Amino acid sequence: MKEYNISLLAGDGTGPEVVNEAVKVLQKTQADYGINFNFTVNDLGGERYLKTQELVTDKDIEELGSSDSILLGAIGHPDVKPGILEQGILLKLRKEFDQYINLRPVVLYPGVETPLANKKPEDINFTVVRENTEGLYAGAGGYIHYGTESEVATQESINTYKAIHRCILYAFEYAKNNNRKKITLCAKTNVLTYAHDLWERIFYDIAKDYPEIETDYGHVDAVCMWMVKNPEWFDVIVTDNMFGDIITDLGAMIQGGMGIAAGGNINPEGVSMFEPIGGSAPKYTGKNIINPLACIAAASMMVTQLGESDYGQAIEDAIIATAQNLDSLSAGKMGLTTSEVGDAVLESIKNK
Ligand code: IPM
Ligand code: MN
Repeated sequence: MKEYNISLLAGDGTGPEVVNEAVKVLQKTQADYGINFNFTVNDLGGERYLKTQELVTDKDIEELGSSDSILLGAIGHPDVKPGILEQGILLKLRKEFDQYINLRPVVLYPGVETPLANKKPEDINFTVVRENTEGLYAGAGGYIHYGTESEVATQESINTYKAIHRCILYAFEYAKNNNRKKITLCAKTNVLTYAHDLWERIFYDIAKDYPEIETDYGHVDAVCMWMVKNPEWFDVIVTDNMFGDIITDLGAMIQGGMGIAAGGNINPEGVSMFEPIGGSAPKYTGKNIINPLACIAAASMMVTQLGESDYGQAIEDAIIATAQNLDSLSAGKMGLTTSEVGDAVLESIKNK
């Protein structure tokens, strides 16, 4: 029996409801895969912040840092000023644990509706590898003459050889290990002539060691266009933090929306954190109508990252089977409740 310690950061809004379903699926299937998960619940989030003014404490870091992986529900609270929880919790944890890859599969499952006309599952099946520690997210910048008409605000994009190199290397290794044939570098070399020139040089340098993988380049604006018009062109996309943020929301939409989209903040040598992409959805909170599939998909990615890829695949297969039978992936329109969707995934794994 293998043991894994998992920290549950259920968080705010509908976070606890969807994490519950993911945990239910894991708890009731783990034994079949020779695994025992020890779950620890951490109360980090907007609700706790409002009560205690605490964001991430040393105790949180110690607790989360001693786990094998983290499953996050949602962070966000309507009564907290935008930016505080994002910076103070989500971005803080990514940096603290050096989760230098944001991995976002964009896969259209059979039977799931995409807003793209005439596109089928075989057309929408790629993965975005987003640099997750620097670029415009590095926090470099400041104000001069704050609050006056002479105010100057700067926000610099930081691009280091080290961070770019490990990100692009990860993308090539990911492609190799997942039978992907092509990697597209998404950047803006015609305007960001220093930062993205560095990206481009490192990209083609690393590519030399992977002659079997085809390389391609797209400016970010064109990539947005092609993601809508010809998503079948993409296999793996590697990109910087800001562009990755933007194109993965577009990716989530073409794969059927927030009900299904999941991602991982990965430190391949450390503690990773997996999450459904959707937010805390205050208006659906407590109603048992939110779609838990994205969080279950996050759990599937987590299990795969832990090295249990057969188990991860079994969960994904069950998500595919369940998604196919829902009326819609949107909250309140699924034809099933949140907990019934969790039960359906469970049934499907058990009946395999
Ligand atoms: C994401 C989110 C975050 C980001 C926000 C909440 C800070 O949009 O994970 O994509 O911009 O990275
Ligand atoms: Mn985002």
